Formats: sequence, C-alpha cells, structure tokens
Amino acid sequence: MKELTTDIKIGDCLEVLKKFPDNSFNLIITSPPYADSRIDNYGGITPDKYVEWFLLRTKEFYRVLKPNGTFILNIKEKAVNGERHTYVLELILEMRKQGWLWTEEFIWHKKNCHPGKWPNRFRDAWERCLQFNKSKKFDMYQENVMVPMGDWVKTRLKKLGKNDVIRFNSNSGSGFGKNISNWVGRNMAYPSNVLYFATETSNKNHSATFPKALPEWFIKLFTKEYDWVLDPFLGSGTTCEAAYELKRNSVGIDIVVDYVKMAKKKVKEVEYLLMEKGRRYG
Ligand SMILES: C[S@@+](CC[C@H](N)C(=O)[O-])C[C@H]1O[C@@H](n2cnc3c(N)ncnc32)[C@H](O)[C@@H]1O
Repeated sequence: MKELTTDIKIGDCLEVLKKFPDNSFNLIITSPPYADSRIDNYGGITPDKYVEWFLLRTKEFYRVLKPNGTFILNIKEKAVNGERHTYVLELILEMRKQGWLWTEEFIWHKKNCHPGKWPNRFRDAWERCLQFNKSKKFDMYQENVMVPMGDWVKTRLKKLGKNDVIRFNSNSGSGFGKNISNWVGRNMAYPSNVLYFATETSNKNHSATFPKALPEWFIKLFTKEYDWVLDPFLGSGTTCEAAYELKRNSVGIDIVVDYVKMAKKKVKEVEYLLMEKGRRYG
C-alpha cells in the first residue's frame, strides 16, 4: 500500500522552505496574508512594503517548484485612499524578473459575497488566482475539471447552419475559430477561467479560508495522485485537507501556532473519516 504524507509545519515559510530540496513540489497553491489586513491576527504588511516582503518568498517558491510545476497565487489588491493599490500588478512584474512566467489569471467569483454599500464602489465579489510557471511546458490534466455542457446545447445543436459544420473563424479577426458540429454528442466541455465558489467561513475559526472546492479544482487540474502540493500560508489547513482527500502528498506551513494545531486536527479528522469509510489507499 502506498502511503500518503501530510506534513504541517510551524514557522515563517521563508525559513521553513530552506530545508526543502530544489524541485520538490508539483503545485504550490496559496492565499497569503493580504497587505495591511488582519493586522491584529497575524501581522499585516503595509501595501507599500508588500512586494519586497513577498518577493523573498516567491524566490524560495521558485526554487522548490518542479520545472513543470505550477504556482497558483490567490490575491486581491485592497483599496487605499480611494483607489486600488497597485501592489499586485507590481508583484507580477517583479516576479517575471525572478524568472516566473505569468501564464494565466483565473477569477474566483464569490457566489455568496456579503451585501454592502460604499460611497464610491460596489461590493467586491471576486479575487484573482494568478497562475505562474517556470516553463511554458507544464503539467495540466484538463480532463479532470470538465463540466457538463448544459441544456442550452440541445437547442443550439438541433439545427446546424452552414457555418456550424466547418471551422468558422471569428469575424473580429482575433484568430479564434470554432466548429460547432464538433460538440454534437458530447456531454462535457472544458470550463472557462472564471470559477464560481461560495466562500466558507463558518466553524473554521479562521477568518480568511479557502472554500475547499478552490484548492480541489487546482489540485485536480495540475497534479496527479501521489504528486506533492505545497501551501506555504496554510491557515486552517484547507489545502492539505483537499490534497489528502485527492490522494496527493502535501506540505503546509503557517506562522501561527493555533492555526497549525487547527490544520493538524482537521487533517487527522479527514484521515479518520476516510478510514471509517473503508477507503484504503494503495
Ligand atoms: C489568508 S490566510 C490563509 C487561509 C487558508 N487559505 C485557509 O484556507 O485557511 C494566510 C495565512 O498565512 C499565515 N502567515 C502569515 N505570514 C506567514 C509567514 N511568513 N509564513 C507562513 N505563514 C504565514 C497566517 O497566519 C494566515 O493563517
């Protein structure tokens, strides 16, 4: 039977990761502390210092990520003095200088964001999930995240026009084209880069948790069973929980001892539940 490892460590990820060899992980997925936020909780970093602080860590992430691995960074710039701060944009540019490729940007649409009113903006219902890679050739298992086509397709495919049975190039000259008749008989399609997940904060004792579906989705897309996943800002342990359930090895790091305890407890519960269900890994 093949054993799974879930290693949850306490400390600053910058220091903890120094003990890991180069090219250790297939996927790094994380949601770091946001600039200036939760200062009373785990030490916010001011927006102006954020890039400098984060770059020291992304350098380590680069070293421990395998050449064909992926780094998913969930982040959103806050509004400072009436405008959006530019630290996320600056971070992307600086990370490219470190050697990262900014391959893609997913939007996490928070289906259940809180209603609210501000004088100059609407409620914030989305966050970025930035995708970085070390090389243009990275592991990606697209079939693992396919979605049902939906009922609209039945009507659309009932009667095909002459442009539907050939590859029809977009009139806009964008270079995009499609052959609608290829969809006949298919139930599943590839998803878009907008992800719809409801936030989950209840009974987790951590104020900024991932919905489990979020790390699950990226783990399925970028890793296979027994690959290695890292969350260097683990929080309540959601990434390690999702990794374990999907039979991936994982390492999680957090600087706050209570969060580390919470994450360890959560993973133990998941292990126990899966054993109870008689699901033995091998
Ligand atoms: C936004 S939360 C992550 C939440 C997590 N995605 C979850 O689902 O619970 C960020 C976490 O980073 C931790 N943290 C802050 N600075 C850190 C550092 N230098 N090294 C490791 N963890 C750190 C905080 O304690 C906090 O739990």
